[in-house]
Amino acid sequence: MPVPLPQTAQDATAAQPAPLENGRTSIPTDQFGRRLRDLRISVIDRCNFRCDYCMPMETYGEDYSFLDPDHYLSFEEITRLVRLFSRRGVEKIRITGGEPLLRPNLEELIHEIAMVEGIQDIALTTNGYLLADQADALAEAGLHRVTVSLDALDPELFREMNGVGKGPEPVLEGIEAADRAGLNPIKINTVVRRGVNDESVLPLVRHFRGTGRIVRFIEYMDVGTRNGWDRSEVVPSAELKERISDEFPIEPLDPNYPGEVANRYRFLDGEGEIGFVSSVTNPFCGNCTRARLSTEGALYTCLFATDGTDFRALLRDGATDAAILDRIDAVWGERDDRYSERRSEEATQPDDRVEMYEIGG
Ligand code: GTP
Ligand code: 5AD
Ligand code: SF4
Ligand code: SF4
Repeated sequence: MPVPLPQTAQDATAAQPAPLENGRTSIPTDQFGRRLRDLRISVIDRCNFRCDYCMPMETYGEDYSFLDPDHYLSFEEITRLVRLFSRRGVEKIRITGGEPLLRPNLEELIHEIAMVEGIQDIALTTNGYLLADQADALAEAGLHRVTVSLDALDPELFREMNGVGKGPEPVLEGIEAADRAGLNPIKINTVVRRGVNDESVLPLVRHFRGTGRIVRFIEYMDVGTRNGWDRSEVVPSAELKERISDEFPIEPLDPNYPGEVANRYRFLDGEGEIGFVSSVTNPFCGNCTRARLSTEGALYTCLFATDGTDFRALLRDGATDAAILDRIDAVWGERDDRYSERRSEEATQPDDRVEMYEIGG
């Protein structure tokens, strides 16, 4: 049966294959003509925080069994996959977790990935708690930039939200250390939940305006199965824009690249940039060029997917490069995900979606 083209998939022309270069052999497109450009790699399923919308302490207490490290893809396995994905069009790598800075010797992986032909951007998403100690080594290894999750500046609220009573100071120090190490532009990701931290939005804007950091406010999403998501907790970006502009007038900026997740805005007084990620009120599936690799090597073609394709088994069964490339082509070629565009259709709400901390958001 032919697959209907989503409205916004028409934008996908903007993401058409670039001329082949950097050792690329072909760039697959999915059922909606979207190419593969970004690979987001989760390097560990553990985290030192217990944010209740991601890893609530009730479920992820001391007794919870995280993956045995033997089950993680090794650095060699990840690097081999990055090399092969690069031949199929991947230019951007984002390292995620859980909390990626908990993976021992992460800088060694960064160093290997930085040497792969065709990889133009290597970013890392972290909660920042361990960043101050690792920023220099990561930058020296070839990491380009970091994005730090920070949902509140108020110490009390921050302690409550991370579920483990840790204060925000080490995170703020981590951001400074990353800046000194040249890991910029540094982006700050803030997930906004009505009645929980929406009062933190303006303090965050005031704090980071004029510092070169780019704060992005993210609409709270129904990722995974454990956050008991309710639409009433979503603060639409349009509402936040109004609240912010009342104090600091802003105007839109062009995207940095086709299909950019965040909508960019600048302060009219020249004090920098902020962004809004509006996947609930303004989904961006039409341009989605992202694939996600879990810690144990399953490839997911959507943040809201239920099943991944096991690449670790292929690697450990001695598959040739050609066989792995074929699998990449097959998985991407079959892809017809557009969850955020279909969120309101009840039939599309599977209850066994992958958890955020398994694929890093
Ligand atoms: P840049 O390369 O800096 O533009 O990064 P990015 O904004 O693409 O990545 P980041 O991980 O910082 O994305 C910000 C947030 O947007 C994530 O934490 C998710 O909450 C959300 N997000 C990112 N990618 C997707 C996606 O493909 N689908 C949906 N629904 N949300 C996404
Ligand atoms: N909705 C939106 N963003 C989320 N994140 C985690 N859970 C959600 C959710 N339910 C964000 C984190 C971090 C990134 C990895 O994803 O705050 O910035
Ligand atoms: Fe850890 Fe990030 Fe999940 Fe919070 S949202 S528990 S910091 S992985
Ligand atoms: Fe891509 Fe799925 Fe997010 Fe849509 S919901 S933008 S298809 S990851």
